[in-house]
Amino acid sequence: MSTDTNTYEHVRAVVSSAHLLSASEKMEFYNNWAENYDQHVAVLDYNAPRLAATGLSTHFTGDSEAALVLDVACGTGLVAKQLKEHGFKHFVGIDGSKGMLDLAKKTDLYQDLKQCMLGKEPLPVQWGLFDVVVIVGGLSVGHVPVTVVRELCKAAKPGGYICMTTRHNKGNLVFKMDLELLLKQMEEEGLWSCVKITQVKEWERAASEEEEGYIPGAVYIYRKL
Ligand SMILES: C[S@@+](CC[C@H](N)C(=O)[O-])C[C@H]1O[C@@H](n2cnc3c(N)ncnc32)[C@H](O)[C@@H]1O
Repeated sequence: MSTDTNTYEHVRAVVSSAHLLSASEKMEFYNNWAENYDQHVAVLDYNAPRLAATGLSTHFTGDSEAALVLDVACGTGLVAKQLKEHGFKHFVGIDGSKGMLDLAKKTDLYQDLKQCMLGKEPLPVQWGLFDVVVIVGGLSVGHVPVTVVRELCKAAKPGGYICMTTRHNKGNLVFKMDLELLLKQMEEEGLWSCVKITQVKEWERAASEEEEGYIPGAVYIYRKL
């Protein structure tokens, strides 16, 4: 008898099992989750890739067909798929999980994919090369550390766009506060200017045992000076 693994209860149990894992264990978790990731995040009503892509394409003033996009913590490629709907065509992807990168490769959307443990290793790209740098679902507690945001900015061209997201649930509040402090500080340092911050009430369905209903999140769009 087969069990339906695409139920909210099952997905919640899967995601909850990863909460206390170390960075290397978390990559192992993503390696094992990769095959089911797209179906499971659909169960969670995970709209972050769509929200980020819509926000970015609303504010992007360049030629989207010619633009080079760096998709950081690209996972299986959901963000590139959404950006393609808005006319973007050229993607480079980075992720720490080989299993997720294998799935991203199957989309045929990326001209290059690199494995890198962000926070431990430097972002493996040429600085100042990208028209757009995007990180969706990667900036949160136990994932990509806040300090990597400076590297995201370095990877963008002057005038390039940096689009980031984070969650605003209880377990991620300190991370979100640290992230917002750094975003502001980098603005004061003259590294970038804020284009748009969108707070979203129903970001995704809660996946931890302490929370119910939908959790909020945010999309941050900055432009490198
Ligand atoms: C929630 S998924 C988001 C994937 C994709 N951007 C999306 O929105 O569907 C988080 C991704 O971040 C990657 N990740 C987490 N921590 C990382 C780190 N320190 N360095 C590199 N990748 C990391 C995971 O492997 C996973 O693919």
